[in-house]
Amino acid sequence: MNLKIAVLSGDGIGPEVILQAKKALYAIGVVYDHEFIFEDALIGAVAIDKTGTPLPEQTLNLCLNTDAVLFGAIGDPKYDNNPDAKVRPEQGLLRLRQELGLFANIRPIKPYKTLLDSSPLKREIIEGADFIIFRELTGGAYFGEKKLNESGTIASDLLEYSEEEITRIAHLAFKSAQNRKNKVTVVDKANVLETSRLWRKVVKKVSENYPDVALDFLFVDNAAMQIIVNPRQFDVILTENLFGDILSDEASVITGSIGLSASASFGTSNALFEPIHGSYPTAKGKNIANPIACILSAAMLLEHFGLHEEAKKMHEAVEKSIEYNVVTMDLNPGTGFGTNEVGEFISNYILNKDDLLYFNDVNVHIGQSTIF
Ligand code: IPM
Ligand code: MN
Repeated sequence: MNLKIAVLSGDGIGPEVILQAKKALYAIGVVYDHEFIFEDALIGAVAIDKTGTPLPEQTLNLCLNTDAVLFGAIGDPKYDNNPDAKVRPEQGLLRLRQELGLFANIRPIKPYKTLLDSSPLKREIIEGADFIIFRELTGGAYFGEKKLNESGTIASDLLEYSEEEITRIAHLAFKSAQNRKNKVTVVDKANVLETSRLWRKVVKKVSENYPDVALDFLFVDNAAMQIIVNPRQFDVILTENLFGDILSDEASVITGSIGLSASASFGTSNALFEPIHGSYPTAKGKNIANPIACILSAAMLLEHFGLHEEAKKMHEAVEKSIEYNVVTMDLNPGTGFGTNEVGEFISNYILNKDDLLYFNDVNVHIGQSTIF
């Protein structure tokens, strides 16, 4: 298969984790005889610095004309701490999501068996948790009308949803549940918000097409608690943009590190793959960021194009790195491995390189890190 992939590394640790994902994809290409053509483009703070805008037209055009987008991270503290900044890096990502029509963002949560003790949550709570968050991505308060009065003392962000916006993502969530544990949980605030009441009404209607899927509803405050008290109850969580943003960071705690959580965003004709973590500016250039979330996002890309065996191989390589403790310091401060070494291990595993033999069951569990 030939795939043209737009690569938007973005800010902070974005370029470092993207490099490792590219290496893993390249290795898959070698082993399974695919050609992945990467085309890099600017987005975010680096794009503002170079072109004055967070999403240059050239970048957007490239993304519109490629098979998929691989995205790193976005955000820079010099904008976060300046409420008066007129352009912000995040606007680049939001506009890209909107222009590509990426209305569904999918974030799987499933802890690795070998990492059950890495989460601050108790093993007996998270063991067996396996759910997916379907986050609506192009509506809600993120995209509603924004207002600030002249004196800068009153602001508002309009939270608006249409029946159509809810219907299209609801279908995707139900279809996904049919291939999983047949349950959809809608997370909302229907006791307060009109939009949430519309979500309930519309999702109930959509559910009539999926009689084999159980449907239930949770208020978002309760859901925030349930995710860490009893995460096994969930299969597919379906929710609006802002709630999904917040709950997916929370849910990543179950996996042991936000550096493990991947995501895929789909629309009618485009697809984008990105780790859920941010740009982690304080880690930039230090070779400490976990590349696994980005590599697993690349695995979701493979899956999207029907390359199931290839995606499985990439997952297997990631599992081995975790099993052999070739992980970054967010998972184990003692290993001494960095972004590059973890990525190298994963791509070498895919390539079936001999020097992996160094890592075997005898020496890995004693935490050796002397070869690098
Ligand atoms: C995410 C991020 C983005 C979001 C930011 C960077 C705009 O937090 O993808 O979850 O809020 O959607
Ligand atoms: Mn987020």
